[in-house]
Amino acid sequence: MPEKKKNIFLIGFMGCGKSTVSKILAARLKFDRIDSDEYIEKHEQMKITEMFEKYGEGYFREKETDFLSELECDSVIIACGGGMAMREQNANIMKEKGIVVFLTAEPETIYDRIKDSTKRPLLNDNMNVGYIKQLMDSRVKAYGAAYDYKVSTDGKNPDAIADEIIELYSNN
Ligand code: S3P
Repeated sequence: MPEKKKNIFLIGFMGCGKSTVSKILAARLKFDRIDSDEYIEKHEQMKITEMFEKYGEGYFREKETDFLSELECDSVIIACGGGMAMREQNANIMKEKGIVVFLTAEPETIYDRIKDSTKRPLLNDNMNVGYIKQLMDSRVKAYGAAYDYKVSTDGKNPDAIADEIIELYSNN
C-alpha cells in the first residue's frame, strides 16, 4: 500500500495560479489532483457562470462546502476556487484534511493573467485592476486565517512556485 501523505489545498484569489501549479505538483509528487470548480461543474452538470445565473452565488458556496465535507482522500492536490477560504467552516475543514497553501499575487498580476477570461462570474462585469484590488482587500482577512503557508507568485514561473511548495511540504 502506498504511504499516506497529507493533502495539499491551494487557495488564493482568482488567477493566482492554483490550477496550473496544482498540475505540476501532482506530477512531481505523484499525487492525484482535484480542482474544486471542475468537480462541482461535473457534479452539477453545469458551468459555474450558469450556476450563478440560475441559482445564485449562495448555491455555489453550498456546493463548495459540500465538496470539502465529502472529501475523503490523502495524497491529493486540491486546487480550490478563489472563494473557498471565505467561509470559516471551509477553512477549518481544509486544515483538518491537509495543509493549506495560500498563493498570492498583486492585483495587476491577476489582471494580466485573467483579463481575457469570461468564466468568472464575479469579474465578468468588473474586469479591471481597481475592482480586483477591492475584492482582494475584502478577502485578505479570511485568506489570512485559512493558510498554513503563504507563497507569492508575482514574477515567478509555475515550476518555481511548485519548487517552493514542495520544499515547504517536505519540511512540514
Ligand atoms: C471564485 C473563483 C473561481 C470560481 C468562482 C468564484 C471566487 O475560481 O470558484 O468563479 O469567488 O473567487 P478560480 O479561483 O479558480 O478562478
